[in-house]
Amino acid sequence: MLTLVFMFVFMFGEVAVLDNGLALRPPMGWMSWGYYMCSVDCDSNPNKCLNEKLILSVADTFYNDGYLDAGYEYIIIDDCWAEKERDKLGRLVPDHKRFPHGMKYIADYIHSRGLKFGMYTNVAEVTCMRYPGSKDHFYIDSKSFAEWGVDYIKVDGCFVGEEFLNTAYIKFGQHLNATGRPIVYSCSWPYYIEFIHKKTPNYDVVSHNCNMWRNFHDVVTSWPAIRTIITHYKESYDQVSPYHAPGQWNDPDMLILGTGSLTDNQSRVHIAVYVMLAAPLLLSCDMKKITDYEKQLLLNLDLIAIAQDSLGVMGKPYELQNSVTLWVKPHLPRKGDKYHSVSFALVNLQSESSSVSLTPGSYSLNSTDGYTVMDIFQRKFIRNVTLRDSISVEVPAEDVIIYTLFPL
Ligand code: GLA
Repeated sequence: MLTLVFMFVFMFGEVAVLDNGLALRPPMGWMSWGYYMCSVDCDSNPNKCLNEKLILSVADTFYNDGYLDAGYEYIIIDDCWAEKERDKLGRLVPDHKRFPHGMKYIADYIHSRGLKFGMYTNVAEVTCMRYPGSKDHFYIDSKSFAEWGVDYIKVDGCFVGEEFLNTAYIKFGQHLNATGRPIVYSCSWPYYIEFIHKKTPNYDVVSHNCNMWRNFHDVVTSWPAIRTIITHYKESYDQVSPYHAPGQWNDPDMLILGTGSLTDNQSRVHIAVYVMLAAPLLLSCDMKKITDYEKQLLLNLDLIAIAQDSLGVMGKPYELQNSVTLWVKPHLPRKGDKYHSVSFALVNLQSESSSVSLTPGSYSLNSTDGYTVMDIFQRKFIRNVTLRDSISVEVPAEDVIIYTLFPL
């Protein structure tokens, strides 16, 4: 009888899905890849080197300079951290020279600062940069990550077929769950399905198995890359927004503030759209190179409140006049149970300024007492509006204005 039950469960039983209670808000933090990439030649380039010193210094900056207080929490080592060979027991080994004390030491340091620790692997035999990958080692690698004190794992999908991706990500998640350690599971799965294997991702399955997932190409440190990402999410809103919710986030890849690649206006647009998408906010830069203005943007708590709002709704794009895109995002706090506050971002990606007029009441607002309007970048109260009022503004070239409307 017992055998029959087992057979039944085996053949028809529910596949255990991810329900780890993690990432109820989009993760915030720092990840090495966007800026440091595979900087392993530390003798010739000690100032751009992926090693223990770098990771601990990011933890110190987060702790000392207000980033932790603002919500930046995860410090994630991307590819190129391992020795090229596993040890005799088949375990991954951190590069001896660059990570001399191992990963548990780094995790302990990060945890002692009240922060969380993330790492990277790939479902194939090798990672995208050809370091050892986790294929045939899901159990032992999940165990190592858990023993080291990892809180977040980015799992990449280079070099394998579509079928393999579709089973491997589910299996890897089950192994992570089985460790008993809460580990945020970040998958690159739908990106590879759509852009490498040219198929439509099954977001229903992805969102049941991963806490977040990449949808689009890697960010690079340039304004055209940011513009392309923004346009992609605008165009794929209908496809991806239904799956975006607490514990399950679409991930447009890292923020590139601090890399010297954007003007102040462009930096505003970059962070504003990520905030309106309720995207993970993962910086990738040399923390010492963040300008005063970038720091002010990154630590703007009114902005972060929009991104981290507990409803977790992805902002919706609308085309306004003169090629300005309006992104609308409802969020808490609300008045009673019925009246949400709402953020409006007017985004101008063009190289000339544009005038627009907006009637907030046309976007499902319902407080007949009206709203008070706050400008999030100017950090000041603008005016009160009724449901019928319009707001007319000039949006400068490659710039954005965000208003949050609080119900009166
Ligand atoms: C892929 C990922 C990047 C990064 C690199 C590392 O390209 O999309 O984010 O992790 O691999 O090799």
